[in-house]
Amino acid sequence: MTKGEAQRRRWTFCEAVNNRSAGIPGLVGQIKECGPFAGGAAERARNIPPFIVMDVLERAQALEREGRHIIHLEVGEPDFPTPECICEAAEKAIREGHTHYTHSLGLIELREGICQHYFEKYGVRLSPDRIIITSGTSPALFMIFAALLDTNDEIILSDPHYPCYPNFADFLKAIPVSVNVHEEDGFQFEVHAIERKLSPNTKAILINSPANPTGTLLSPERMSQLAEMKPYLVSDEIYHGLVYEEKEHSILEFTERAFVLNGFSKAYAMTGWRLGYIIAPLEFVRPLQKIQQNFFISAGSVSQWAGLAALSKAGADVERMRSIYNQRRKYVISRLKGLGFHLKTEPAGAFYVFINVKHLSRDSYALAFEILEKAGVGVSPGIDFGDNGEGYIRISYANSLENIKEGLDRIEAFLKNR
Ligand SMILES: Cc1ncc(COP(=O)(O)O)c(C=O)c1O
Repeated sequence: MTKGEAQRRRWTFCEAVNNRSAGIPGLVGQIKECGPFAGGAAERARNIPPFIVMDVLERAQALEREGRHIIHLEVGEPDFPTPECICEAAEKAIREGHTHYTHSLGLIELREGICQHYFEKYGVRLSPDRIIITSGTSPALFMIFAALLDTNDEIILSDPHYPCYPNFADFLKAIPVSVNVHEEDGFQFEVHAIERKLSPNTKAILINSPANPTGTLLSPERMSQLAEMKPYLVSDEIYHGLVYEEKEHSILEFTERAFVLNGFSKAYAMTGWRLGYIIAPLEFVRPLQKIQQNFFISAGSVSQWAGLAALSKAGADVERMRSIYNQRRKYVISRLKGLGFHLKTEPAGAFYVFINVKHLSRDSYALAFEILEKAGVGVSPGIDFGDNGEGYIRISYANSLENIKEGLDRIEAFLKNR
């Protein structure tokens, strides 16, 4: 797909979603501004698509304001509070006056803590000089793309994928190139399929294991095959620590020619602290540092001290949360099977199940809203994660077992009456 074709597809997609969301009470025409003919905002701001899952969430909130009780299985955010030892470290940092800008690369103590973590967990030796602390994994992603991708450079993404990936690339005038992954193959990148999409402009391949939305892991064999390829690898390791079967691997076990982005939002239940980091090849650190200085100055100081406590003291808390997620995962899988859904591949990490609903509908956006309106359960439409996600819905088990049970009971009743 050329850049023009890709852009037209996005506009059409925005318009289609917009036309449909216009009929949904409670949604305030969030993406009216999409497309070439829209008002005064800059082109890049007009063209960036919204998260469709936010449409579901906002409609769910409108229903809640009307007094309906909604079960939220659409949101990808831990339901646990941040562990106590992390909050205590943050309080201490505030009391001790650590409330100023830090070094633009981040606190050396935290950067050393991350090196130690990567050594203990993956046997990878790193220098803190290769680490840049960021205000979340999202800025880390933006900074890597900005440092790596020139106009018209291509970056290969799986489809389905986390929705922001292609949007960041588009925003920077680079070209996201999709490679479909399939449930029969564990939603894994197939090396020959990638090879067919390589061009002289391919600059990077992005991997995300465990993956959002599928919850599957990329096998070490395939990671090592990808590491042999010419483009840089960008590895989003944000769901590391939330793995229930198999074992997660860092791309740095296979190659140094890679960028890791990671953060504290998921495994440590710290979404609101906005803390993440980049591990980059040394020659990219100075360019990334300049981007950080200009755009963000530094990550939040209090959050950085909290992050250090997370790495050094919160191991038992992460294990407790992981084991609860795992109970929920097993419950969801067995209930879904009982409801007649065929999971050709079972999720082994993160907190999502990507469910094939093609026997119910080929329009996941409409189905998600039907489930919300009729059953009072929020789910994410698969189309949010790419064209190849159409015909699926994603449910998140980052919610209590009691709520998950109630949500699935409601879906069961909805299916019986449909
Ligand atoms: C795959 C993936 N990467 C990155 C992020 C962004 O996380 P953060 O809260 O660290 O910005 C998310 C959030 O849902 C995600 O699912």
